Amino acid sequence: MQANIDAGQRYLSIANDTKRAVVTLGARMRELAIRCEGRDLLATLFGEGCVVSQMIDSIFSSADQTLLLHMGLTDKSNGNWSSPFCVHFVDDLLIFTDPDLPQAERPTSYVDPFWGSKILTRVLVRGKVATVLDMGCGAGILALTMSRYAENVVGIDLNPRAISLSKFNATINDVQNVRFEHGDLYAPVQSKRFDRIVFNTPSFSRDGTDQNILNQGETVLQRFLTGLDEHLTRDGYCQLCCLMQDFPSSRFEDRFMRWLGQDFQVVVVDYGQEDLSALMAARCGWFTIRRGERHFMEFFQPPSLGYSGPLEQLPIDLFANFVISEMDKSGA
Ligand SMILES: C[S@@+](CC[C@H](N)C(=O)[O-])C[C@H]1O[C@@H](n2cnc3c(N)ncnc32)[C@H](O)[C@@H]1O
Repeated sequence: MQANIDAGQRYLSIANDTKRAVVTLGARMRELAIRCEGRDLLATLFGEGCVVSQMIDSIFSSADQTLLLHMGLTDKSNGNWSSPFCVHFVDDLLIFTDPDLPQAERPTSYVDPFWGSKILTRVLVRGKVATVLDMGCGAGILALTMSRYAENVVGIDLNPRAISLSKFNATINDVQNVRFEHGDLYAPVQSKRFDRIVFNTPSFSRDGTDQNILNQGETVLQRFLTGLDEHLTRDGYCQLCCLMQDFPSSRFEDRFMRWLGQDFQVVVVDYGQEDLSALMAARCGWFTIRRGERHFMEFFQPPSLGYSGPLEQLPIDLFANFVISEMDKSGA
């Protein structure tokens, strides 16, 4: 399967009446996804598989079929339908991303297919808020999830194709309170503050250089944290997913607190060792940051997700949105 470089861009050039048709198509797909067989069919079509035309005829009108092909969401060959995209079901949302490709096959405009963010969506501090920022929005999963409880959401990404795909995902889910902006970190929202800021950060590669398409890595985290004080409201929360790497002369925690600069309390749920190579071993964690006494609290959890740390000591319930089978709160 190949990442479709055009389809996200194609969305931007379609006319408004086509956008209305996309909203209707999205409603139909969400309705299908409620039923098991419909969800399986969508997962096959927008996954690794092919679906025969008779099956497509039974669920999509001919207008929807034309739209699917016109948008580049599907291909049709010899009576078989397939897609260069993957679809993810997140709560009641359908989100399109590029497929999971080996690093060597990813084009520079590649949009991440949710490594880490599905878990991040479950540990978000929820509750009604006015303003949210999704930094490095990718295909828009976090921005769209948060649009359900925030009045206004802004998603930012340095990759223009991520912005096109996020806009497409907002339209197909008929979400109207989210705006997506192309730019470097806080540049598109210079003087604005947000009640929630989330960032599923770019990570590192095997050879110690940066894995992300735009080749930045820890410097992005440094610039992001340095600007946090100016962009987070007084009682706001920032949540991150990132890799932590200690060096003999520099602990990750020290760098992190130095970059934050001001008094922030940081709670990290550390979910274990990621052996990226003999050169580099990193731990991956979910970070929740808020103003308060300067403190870095780390809680450990084995990779199996069977949590073993002292959960009752967590200052906030980060696992309110997990069902017990996903994470055993008792640690048993
Ligand atoms: C790990 S992906 C996360 C994507 C999406 N939020 C998710 O959770 O699936 C990191 C994203 O950060 C974006 N990014 C990297 N450097 C950036 C920068 N300087 N400013 C804005 N976005 C950046 C990348 O293009 C990428 O989409």
